[in-house]
Amino acid sequence: MTSEKIQRVGVIGAGIMGAGIAEVCARAHVDVLVFEQTRELAAAGRARILRSLDRGVSSGKITEREREQAAWRLRFTSDLGDFADRQLVVEAVVEDEKVKSEIFAELDKIVTDPNAVLASNTSSIPIMKLGIATSAPERVIGLHFFNPVPVLPLVELVTTLKTSSTVAQRAEAFAADVLGKQVVRSSDRAGFIANALLVPYLLSAIRMVESGFATKDDIDKTMVLGCAHPMGPLALTDLVGLDTVKAIADSMYEEFKEPLYSAPPLLLRMVEAGLVGKKSGAGFYEYAENGRASKK
Ligand code: 3HC
Repeated sequence: MTSEKIQRVGVIGAGIMGAGIAEVCARAHVDVLVFEQTRELAAAGRARILRSLDRGVSSGKITEREREQAAWRLRFTSDLGDFADRQLVVEAVVEDEKVKSEIFAELDKIVTDPNAVLASNTSSIPIMKLGIATSAPERVIGLHFFNPVPVLPLVELVTTLKTSSTVAQRAEAFAADVLGKQVVRSSDRAGFIANALLVPYLLSAIRMVESGFATKDDIDKTMVLGCAHPMGPLALTDLVGLDTVKAIADSMYEEFKEPLYSAPPLLLRMVEAGLVGKKSGAGFYEYAENGRASKK
């Protein structure tokens, strides 16, 4: 039945985005199964979600009881075969087309329900490239969430030339009615709406630091105090992850060959050095264990 309400969701990957997506699904009373490759990664993912739920409680967004119930709805597995009964799967692994394509090819065989929705949270990879890894690209769609997922209310819905209208409607209804997100629709072009606008801005800020045009503190301060952004572009690059910003820039550059989208050498060197931002403890800023910037 195409109208069957989505109640069983699978999330692939429990990194920053996967954990956030799993958390909002669990908070919306959905049964959530999360795939991670190892027990250690699964434990780290669960801990990440529990910390965020705790934050939700301490900031008064959810009650203790809602926290307990959400935690109870989350299960983890290291066997993708367990996803056979999922009505919606959201893939949220590393921003790498080959890795994602392999996952979609596998999911295609495991999730046999023709009405199931196979979604990617990719930040920038055209969804058609993932659709063609499957035997039924009409089931494949982009559902792009924003970090931090429990806080930011937007989801970009990306349909391809092949996505069926039923799948698009199901995915949109789930994001809007079940998760309570605002949904915007984007064409299937690298970067979609948000990153096509955001990433050139982040890269421009990195080029400013690189050329000595202004200090990182002054660049961030300018955008926070002068333009009322919640955080400056370098702090935001740290939040998104420098490796992810580079990967998004690469796929946008590959699609459009636009110099504005090419990753500047400073970004490349920082990624090579492992200075990938908040998740690694250091990027443009340094972070304490609790994720707060410890040194500016
Ligand atoms: N659950 C529920 N609510 C939470 C929460 C959680 N786990 N954690 C925080 N919140 C709530 C807080 O209660 C607070 O709500 P209030 O404003 O109603 O009191 C609000 O979120 C802000 O939290 P904090 O006060 O603790 O933190 P800050 O005010 O310092 O805000 C921030 C932190 C939310 C990260 C804010 O700086 C921000 O929005 N920055 C911009 C982030 C952004 O641009 N993200 C998009 C990146 S691009 C992307 O993700 C796409 C990808 O493809 C790259």
